[in-house]
Amino acid sequence: MKQVLVTGGSGFIGSHLAEALLARGDQVTVVDDESTGNASNLAAARENDRLTYIQGSVGDETIVSQLTENADEVYHLAAAVGVALIARAPMETIERNIYPTELVLSRLRERIQRGENVKCFLASTSEVYGKNPKDTWSEEDDLVFGSTTRPRWSYGASKAIDEFMGLASHREYGLPVVIGRFFNVVGPRQTGAYGMVLPRFVEAALKGKPLIVHDDGAQTRCFAHVDDVVRAVVTLMETDAAVGKVFNIGSDQPISILELAKKVIEVSGSSSTIEFQTYADAYDKDFEDIRRRVPDLTRLRSTIGHVSDHNLDSIIHKVIEFQRTCAS
Ligand SMILES: NC(=O)c1ccc[n+]([C@@H]2O[C@H](COP(=O)([O-])OP(=O)(O)OC[C@H]3O[C@@H](n4cnc5c(N)ncnc54)[C@H](O)[C@@H]3O)[C@@H](O)[C@H]2O)c1
Repeated sequence: MKQVLVTGGSGFIGSHLAEALLARGDQVTVVDDESTGNASNLAAARENDRLTYIQGSVGDETIVSQLTENADEVYHLAAAVGVALIARAPMETIERNIYPTELVLSRLRERIQRGENVKCFLASTSEVYGKNPKDTWSEEDDLVFGSTTRPRWSYGASKAIDEFMGLASHREYGLPVVIGRFFNVVGPRQTGAYGMVLPRFVEAALKGKPLIVHDDGAQTRCFAHVDDVVRAVVTLMETDAAVGKVFNIGSDQPISILELAKKVIEVSGSSSTIEFQTYADAYDKDFEDIRRRVPDLTRLRSTIGHVSDHNLDSIIHKVIEFQRTCAS
């Protein structure tokens, strides 16, 4: 039985990942400080006696040393997440995203130096591409960040530092590391509280309130179901050829945010209207957005094959069903 550690495991993606690893038969330890996650996300998983839940921080040296000591695999997802949170608290973003990753990787490198076996998955983000103007982004493309006077880029830049540290740990110390750049992951348990667009739209539609679209709504994004993303992560970690590499993970089917708002209204049968809001009103005057964000999934497909079972309509149905269940 594998011993696996999931950091950020009471968060949206982490809780689905913990469930998938339990279903695989692993002994799963989750550590989470519940800063943006919620222990209730693991309510079902906690009935399984192969799950151990630690409420604590991956910025805590003692906790990280203890929890990484016996793990066969570490999935490091704990981070400051969400455009609204990042715009509001760039210092916290930088601290939460860099130091804990450095700590986790240093403990794992020590184990490799002692001749032990351990493998690590690092959760990165499409935000590392910044505002690269290409139509689709592939893993070897340049990272094109905006000015440091725009706090938004601190998220992508801090995750890029994590990637550099992960790749250096592999090159210099032989630590088996797999890096996944997630592109707009959505599904049940995601909260809209930190700026995530789909849960925000669904919540407004179900309450009959206006759906707030930022700017002109022509920005495009690709939305992937969390189950597809989790399956890709688990399969990559089971694939030797993935070690030491970076992978885009997500959907490559773009939709504009305005079209998404219309689709949510249609699928939910809501009478809500759509209202537009400037970035300055939504965040602040320094906010800068990305117009188009579409991954090139060639590397992912050639490494693990099939990547998606969900289309956007079925994803929206599942998010609606989840929010209705929570509200009742
Ligand atoms: N959801 C997406 O679309 C998306 C896109 C790109 C990248 N990601 C990455 O995926 C990972 C998971 O994101 P998510 O969407 O599930 O967000 P989330 O906020 O639900 O999950 C992050 C979890 O980490 C926990 N956490 C934060 N700092 C911590 C610390 N110091 N110690 C312990 N726990 C801590 C939070 O409480 C939360 O449960 C993150 O690394 C994020 O950067 C997500």
